[in-house]
Amino acid sequence: MPTALTRAISPLLGECELTHLHRAEIDIKKAQKQHGDYEKALEKMGYTIRRVADAPHLPDGVFIEDTAVVFPELSIITRPGAESRRPETESVAVVLSKYRNLKTITYPGTLDGGDVLTLGNQVFIGISKRTNSEAIQQFSDFLKPYGYSVKGVPVTKCLHLKTAIAVIEDDLLLINPEWIDESLFPSHQYDFVHTTEPYGANVICKDNLALCPKAFPKTADWLRKKGYDVILIDQSEMAKAEAGLTCSSILID
Ligand code: GLY
Repeated sequence: MPTALTRAISPLLGECELTHLHRAEIDIKKAQKQHGDYEKALEKMGYTIRRVADAPHLPDGVFIEDTAVVFPELSIITRPGAESRRPETESVAVVLSKYRNLKTITYPGTLDGGDVLTLGNQVFIGISKRTNSEAIQQFSDFLKPYGYSVKGVPVTKCLHLKTAIAVIEDDLLLINPEWIDESLFPSHQYDFVHTTEPYGANVICKDNLALCPKAFPKTADWLRKKGYDVILIDQSEMAKAEAGLTCSSILID
């Protein structure tokens, strides 16, 4: 059964880590409502929501994607690049251990799940402010027995690799070419985000449904032209925390 792990929003979300954005005040009540709408949309897409333990003391705890990466054969628990985020992983590992065998990134490796893009048996990992080459080597060693290839790609102009690129279908990517070099993906088809929507490459597609922030109407139009029924949700408060749609769940298909 497809499952989405999520976590409740911390009342300290306004103190979250920021890398490329200036701090703007976050309305916590509004953020909680938006997170609830996000979970309802994932349910509409066929996922059962399973919430991991609350972590009210961890400002970024809702951005659970960064704590683990799930493959059919195993899950890899990360060691997040921001020190304040390292305590987020333990409670996620407890839940994920019920679904998969676990491997864990260790010192001196650091890696955020938002830097990991899986395309079949090819895994691309952003070398970013959060993710380093030691962690990529460990990741590669964990996956080698299962036939995956792992490649590090530079990410300098946005927080994570998946801030700049989204998997729409197995063979179709949506890319912001200002932030990621599309020639890194020669065996895939791609389209570019609309220039007025640089954060548009952060949508979630499943079957004929696409989840898209309502702030990105051009991206939504593009998805409709590709044949998707688009579910629009307001993510204004999460965007202030430098988070995209994928950041707030771990999807187990
Ligand atoms: N606020 C999201 C992050 O920086 O990890």
